[in-house]
Amino acid sequence: MRQKSLQDFRDVFALAQPPSIVDRFETDEYFAECFVAGPDPTRLHRLTAVPGKFPVTNAHLTAVPEFASDDLTTALAEGRVYWADYEAMSELDNGKHPQAPKFMYAPMAAFCGPRRGGPLRPFAIQCGQDPAGREIYTPADGYSWKLAKNCVLSAHNTYHEVLTHLGFTHLMSEPVLLAAVRNLAANHPVAVLLKRHFEGTFSINKLAVELLIQPGKAVEYLIGSDLASTYPWLAKHRANRSFRGNYLPTTLAATGTAGSRELPHFPDRDDGLLVWQAISEWVGDFVSACYRGDADVAADHELQAWAAEVASPAGGQVRDFGATPGQIADLQDLAEILTMVIWTAGPQHAAVNFAQKDHMAFLPANPLAGYTPEPTGRGHTETDWLDNLPPLDVAVQQFCVMHFLGSIHHTVLGNYENDFTGTPVATGHRRFQAGLDSIEAEIVARNRRRPMPYEYLRPSLIPNSTNI
Ligand SMILES: [Fe+2]
Repeated sequence: MRQKSLQDFRDVFALAQPPSIVDRFETDEYFAECFVAGPDPTRLHRLTAVPGKFPVTNAHLTAVPEFASDDLTTALAEGRVYWADYEAMSELDNGKHPQAPKFMYAPMAAFCGPRRGGPLRPFAIQCGQDPAGREIYTPADGYSWKLAKNCVLSAHNTYHEVLTHLGFTHLMSEPVLLAAVRNLAANHPVAVLLKRHFEGTFSINKLAVELLIQPGKAVEYLIGSDLASTYPWLAKHRANRSFRGNYLPTTLAATGTAGSRELPHFPDRDDGLLVWQAISEWVGDFVSACYRGDADVAADHELQAWAAEVASPAGGQVRDFGATPGQIADLQDLAEILTMVIWTAGPQHAAVNFAQKDHMAFLPANPLAGYTPEPTGRGHTETDWLDNLPPLDVAVQQFCVMHFLGSIHHTVLGNYENDFTGTPVATGHRRFQAGLDSIEAEIVARNRRRPMPYEYLRPSLIPNSTNI
């Protein structure tokens, strides 16, 4: 059934509490917030020059009242301009709803931070990769701008579910877990540590493959692309994913989003770094207590067999697993690997999973597909915008899936019950728990100062493992 007004989407929540974003999802502030504190806060890159395929100009920037007296060249030089590029989506084919064609887009969106500091604002969107024959829309373009934002959100949210969420958390942990079970004795210290961080992962992945990612099931129903092209796309991008290149401080530096002066409002980065550091210290204490030195790591045959299998094409095919792929060089390498494994299973999955309930359960805020071709020209109307949104049967399905997946919290980061009581790592474990307690207090204090609280990396709300 097609929607005739926005109220039709609100009525999906007739018997449930609507999320707080329902009243402000149409604002550009909310759109920008999705990129720094939404379901996928991994897509922003700093721009140092205007890309040839996305020829934004000073006129686009200054069309936004907040940037009327700003200058694009200066903003680029000061590191205040960022973009999200969905070129990867052009490898996908359009999906199909039982009653209508669907569309996936490969858009680009540009953002700028105000000179005086404060959150990013979007200022330009191009709905496809080739600028020839395409408009660059700005917030001055009314419903044409809102249609362009739908194109970005459909690409962003399909990328989020298929790659950032499924591919880079669920399907990154599984081969590491499988190789650990196959190569490490149950009482090997690394197996004891990781057991808590793999709890439920096999089960939820099996459920996802059997119940969600099948023809006619939820994922195909929600995303803009078809499963036939999405499966190999997922496999390719998951296999190309660098393990070491995505250690949190490394990836922030690589994307140019590390600077708190240039990009002051980035809750996922700021809270994530606290949690990353706490895990890194805990794992550092752990490996120092379990190994006398680098030579012991190199000589641990079970550990080296685990790494070799995770990195091998026949095993996990996880790129860059180990300083020399497939080998763990020393204590530091081992500590970094374990930090990343725990980070991926717990905090990173929590950030990209639990945001689904608040941000994605209400479809117009975060569609995963378009139902009309990308906009051309200008002067679009509210009807054009409503027609681009998925229909109400999809809205109901999206509510059910996102509400469910974002509601179940099982276990808490750092709780190992009595696994380490009376062992040489007990002191380190107590230090870890104390560190997580102070991070909790710090994030609660930060949230009071933020335009919208960012709850997903509060340690008390982070599970130990990917289990939903
Ligand atoms: Fe999940």
